[in-house]
Amino acid sequence: MSRSSRRKNGASDTHGPHAFDRHYEQVYGDRWPVLRTALIAPPHQVALPYPLKTPYYLDDASRAAADALPLSPGDRVIDFCAAPGGKSLALAVRLPEDATLISNERSATRRARLHRVLDDHLPETLRARVTVTGHDATRWGVVHPASAQRILLDVPCSSERHVITDSTHLARWSAARTRSLSIQAFALLAAAIDTLVEGGTVLYITCALSPRENDDVVARAFSRRAGLVEQRRLDLPWGEETRHGIHVLPDRANGRGPLYVALLEKVASR
Ligand SMILES: C[S@@+](CC[C@H](N)C(=O)[O-])C[C@H]1O[C@@H](n2cnc3c(N)ncnc32)[C@H](O)[C@@H]1O
Repeated sequence: MSRSSRRKNGASDTHGPHAFDRHYEQVYGDRWPVLRTALIAPPHQVALPYPLKTPYYLDDASRAAADALPLSPGDRVIDFCAAPGGKSLALAVRLPEDATLISNERSATRRARLHRVLDDHLPETLRARVTVTGHDATRWGVVHPASAQRILLDVPCSSERHVITDSTHLARWSAARTRSLSIQAFALLAAAIDTLVEGGTVLYITCALSPRENDDVVARAFSRRAGLVEQRRLDLPWGEETRHGIHVLPDRANGRGPLYVALLEKVASR
């Protein structure tokens, strides 16, 4: 870290807890102290209310988001970034007749965990309809263009709820990381759009507070894939409407979130 980025009291202008608070004070203004308190409080988790072999718990907003991806008979559905597997489970139990799910995860260790979650929770008949793959999803649109009807894209993101409750992660936090994650998220969203057939839909999800990783990524997709995608309406029981999606934040959603969701339909091909 450069000497100029360290203030007199030892706090850094660019890294760590002080920089984190200042950054989100700028984004959320007077709301930040209330939102901050809600982020530290226990999350609102629910068991997936489905015919699983054993219960699986995840944030209620994540469950509702996965349920918001429309599915039709015969669909080829891909969960681009699937580990540890909560949203793949939520999709698997909703698979209509003849639809199949590919649960993809690039990291080998996280993929092993994904295998365990699917094997431990899905009844055999559903497990047989889910294939696990280990590709770099940013390449999918080049290798298999126009090959899927539905994509759930839950990108790696800042995960501020996790960061704020973990001193090691908080010490390492920097606004620059938000920027690099947003670049990675855009590469994944562009690949998802290229992978869809016309009429197909992608559900873009983050658990980030930062608009840079949320609306800004979707806005960039509308600009870089102009004329190819349109925004579709989403109905979630909670959350605040943003320019392109819905943001569920724990201070106003009874502990649920953070979760940002946007639904895009591919309306034309290049
Ligand atoms: C937010 S997590 C997904 C959580 C998961 N959807 C769930 O509900 O359990 C993002 C995942 O994407 C994986 N990932 C990151 N970059 C990827 C890429 N280029 N291709 C495939 N997976 C990737 C990460 O290893 C991480 O496991």
